[in-house]
Amino acid sequence: MMTDTDSNRVLSVLRERRSVRNYTDREVSDEILRTIIAAGIQAPTALGFQPWQFVVVRDRDLMQRASDYCKPILAAKIAEEPRPGTEAFLAALKNPEYSIFYNAPVLVLVLGAREVVSSAVDCTLCAGNMMLAAWALGLGSCWIGSAALVQQSPDLLAALKVPEDHQIVAPLIFGYPAPLQPKPERREPRITWVR
Ligand SMILES: Cc1cc2nc3c(=O)[nH]c(=O)nc-3n(C[C@H](O)[C@H](O)[C@H](O)COP(=O)(O)O)c2cc1C
Repeated sequence: MMTDTDSNRVLSVLRERRSVRNYTDREVSDEILRTIIAAGIQAPTALGFQPWQFVVVRDRDLMQRASDYCKPILAAKIAEEPRPGTEAFLAALKNPEYSIFYNAPVLVLVLGAREVVSSAVDCTLCAGNMMLAAWALGLGSCWIGSAALVQQSPDLLAALKVPEDHQIVAPLIFGYPAPLQPKPERREPRITWVR
């Protein structure tokens, strides 16, 4: 039997969204990206500061440069502190064909103003909205945390047009999904009720 929570469109987007790491060649229009960003900025912000800016990167050569820059740094970090389950990722990072951006057609950097203490939290909420909006519009997305390593490269920051008074909070890729991976299961959360 279908309940209200099964059929509710918002709740089904929340349930079904997953990180997409395999994309078709179909381009994402500027209009769709504006819609996704418009959804992002509906997020709440501390004191209503809205401390964000966005950089939309469609330059695939630049994405390749950024990926090539981040991969060895990431591989060295993982090799320093190996954890169970990271072997496959380490092997991928050593493969020259592997891109940290999974060949997605577009990368959006959600930038937070450095002077606003809450900007990382605010921009994270914004990024969450953006990924959910993308899913609702038939697009996939993935937060590429490793791409924040470009902040160690003044050249890449300049090429990506990141202003000095902003930090990269959320590097997000978007695109139309090629066949999807199953959604990772969620553990039952521990909930403490205080009544
Ligand atoms: C802060 C953050 C950083 C992440 N960085 C990466 C990344 O560098 N590469 C990647 O493939 N996925 C990355 N992810 C995606 C997570 O791996 C993914 O959300 C998680 O495995 C749960 O899967 P789901 O999004 O499909 O539900 C990141 C997610 C978050 C929130």
